[in-house]
Parts: sequence; structure tokens; C-alpha cells
Amino acid sequence: MTHEAQTVLPRRILLGVTGGIAAYKAADLVRRLREGGAEVQVILTEGAARFVTPMTFQALSGRPVRVGLWDEAAEAAMGHIELARWAELVLVAPASADFLARLAAGMANDLLTTTCLATTAPIAVAPAMNQQMWSAAATQANITTLRQRSVRVLGPGVGSQACGEQGAGRLLEPADIAAQVLSSSADGGLLSGRHIVITAGPTREPIDPVRFLSNRSSGKMGFAVAQAAREAGARVTLISGPVHLPTPLGVERINVETAAQMYAAVHAVMDDCDVYIGAAAVADYTPHCCAENKIKKTSDTLDLHLEKSPDILASVAALSKRPYVVGFAAETTNVEAHALAKLERKKLDLIAANEVGAERAFDRDDNALLLLWSGGRQALGLQSKADLAREFITFIAHRVSARSDGE
Ligand code: C5P
Repeated sequence: MTHEAQTVLPRRILLGVTGGIAAYKAADLVRRLREGGAEVQVILTEGAARFVTPMTFQALSGRPVRVGLWDEAAEAAMGHIELARWAELVLVAPASADFLARLAAGMANDLLTTTCLATTAPIAVAPAMNQQMWSAAATQANITTLRQRSVRVLGPGVGSQACGEQGAGRLLEPADIAAQVLSSSADGGLLSGRHIVITAGPTREPIDPVRFLSNRSSGKMGFAVAQAAREAGARVTLISGPVHLPTPLGVERINVETAAQMYAAVHAVMDDCDVYIGAAAVADYTPHCCAENKIKKTSDTLDLHLEKSPDILASVAALSKRPYVVGFAAETTNVEAHALAKLERKKLDLIAANEVGAERAFDRDDNALLLLWSGGRQALGLQSKADLAREFITFIAHRVSARSDGE
């Protein structure tokens, strides 16, 4: 099993500071992150270096500060790819409107954006700008794009601004930013104190050493649900098949490939699980045995003998000490009827149905869900997967707390 757990708390933080008057507050942020036990490597954009000096940040972080992409001596010591790999979290504070636009466009025209593209670490941004620039359609579109890519957006705060205006666009206080990225639980959230286990992505069932059976699941919905659950204060374990998505901040991720590995990984964390959400597209069938060597093209036809893979969702619902169990039903026809049948057959608490197929292709950034439970239904309308996941998690949190209150 490819089993890789990421730490819940980032200990190596790459702090990007971009050009804006709030850059001076980033000095205090470095101090607070270090007090919280993190190592901090600072990158200043060239704009930031006009507001604050590298020397201040070097003294506070205890590490040489990086500014340009073309600094040969610095690149020789730790190149930008190494920086990207070193980071457990990339935090950009303050994040200017220009930086957000470049990040959303996927540009790599300075050291900070290049590092953001090259990293697999989660990225968090704390925007700071004039309130009109924040509410501008272009900035809002960039923020939506970044959220859809699991970038965590911290703030901005509302209040008086350096330019003399009032409104949204203030950098959050350094203490709040540090608390949000370093705290292990978003205390006070609807799911605070709960352990949520979520599966996501496809599984891969090997046919031989180079081939496998899989499906089109991108994992986007499951990852968005994991992020929303984390933001609601839960401890989140995300068990994922092979996908190209960064781990949401503060989420513990376990990577698996096959349905059997996913089954084992799920049952290994069921002990204290309060809510189980099966968003993975688990292969229904798996080759009877994986050929030891690559199968040769010797005959005109090839028969694969497939066996049913374990139904992870139903097995969780059958546990004697069972969590609140939520399943997904991706259907091409008769969505509601099929989903209701699944709710009953698998003995679920809730099922989230959605239509898939030509019209509603996989790998999209938006989705709609129909929630069904015994005795009720609720439609969550078409919206970005990030927003949909928040609505979905809020709904689940209310159902779970109503159930606990009734106990
Ligand atoms: O039966 P069907 O595959 O349509 O059910 C979908 C739901 O069941 C999803 O929540 C999926 O994660 C879960 N599932 C599972 N194990 C399987 C097949 C599906 O957990 N082997």
C-alpha cells in the first residue's frame, strides 16, 4: 500500500510577502509562527522589498531571505524547486491583488509564483488591499478560482484601511493568521471535536504490472468536502485514491491505490470515527489476480476474470459501533430512485445523489447534489464544488448534532 500520512500541523512554512503597505505586519507574523514552533523561510516579492527590508525578516526568521528568481548564490544553496519541496505549507501574507491574479493564472514570473506552482504543499493566502480592489469582479473571480483549487483564503478583515477608506480588504491580524494555520482544530466550528473520515478519488485495480482498471473520478468533490469539514473544526482523515490534488490544509491524508487498500485504510481509522463520507469512486470489480508479468498481445481477444470488490461503505454501515454514514450515488439515469435504493440496501444515514454522464462530465469544478434520507430530501443547487461542500458539511453537522441531542 502506498501509505503516506501528512502531518496535521505544518512545521516548515514558506512565507511569501507581497508588495503592499501591510507587508510590515508580516514581520510580526514571522515571530508568531516561530513562537508556534514552525520553521519559517521568507520569500519577498520585489514589490514587498520596497516596503520592508530583507534584513528584518532574516533576523526574525533566522534564515536568509529570498527575493529574486535569478540570485545565483541563493539558488545554489537552496533552489526554488527544493524550496517548494521543503515547504509543508506555503502561506502568502499579505497577498496583493496582483499576486492573487498571477497565482490564479498559473504564472511563474517571480520566485514566489514559481514556488507556488512547483509545490505540492497546501497554499494559504491572506489578502490585503484597498476595499474597491478586493470587491472588483476580477479579484473576486480570481479568489473563486483559487478556492476551487483548494487554496485556503484567510480573511480579509473589515475595517479602516491605510488608504483612509472603510471596508473589506484589511490583512487579518498576524496573531489570527498564525492561529488559523497552526491550530489543530478550528475551535467553535460546527464539527469541532468530531473525527470525520472521507474517501475520495478513483481506485486502481491492477491487471498486470503496467495496466489497471480505473474510472474518471477527479477527487475534487471529496477533497472539497474534506476542506469544508476541516474548516468546520473537524479532525479530518482523507483516504484518497490516485489524484492530482493538493492536500487541504490541516487534513491528514492517506494515499491508497486499490479498493482493498482503501478498505483496510478505512477500517484502520474507524475506532473514533463520528462521520464517514464515502465520496470515492471505488472500483466495483477487480481482476481476480494481477498477472506477474506484462500480458502479451498473443491472441485476438483477452478475457479478464473480475471479482466484486469489497463494498467499503456498506461495511462501515454494518459496524456495531457505527459512525453517521454518508454515501454518494453517481447515476446516469433515474437518479433519485437508484439513490434511494442504495440508501436502503447499504443502510446509510444519508445519500448524496448526482447525475453524471455526457451532460454532467467528470472533473468539473461545479456540481449539484440531491440529499436523501429516510423520510426527507433536500436539493443543493448547482454551484462551485467548494461552496457546495460547505453547504453539504453544514447540513451533515446539523443532522449529526440533532442525532446526538436525541440520544
Ligand atoms: O453501489 P455504488 O458504487 O453506486 O455506491 C456508491 C457509494 O458506495 C459511494 O459512496 C462509494 O464511495 C461507495 N462504494 C464503496 N465501496 C465499493 C463501491 C462503492 O464504498 N466497492
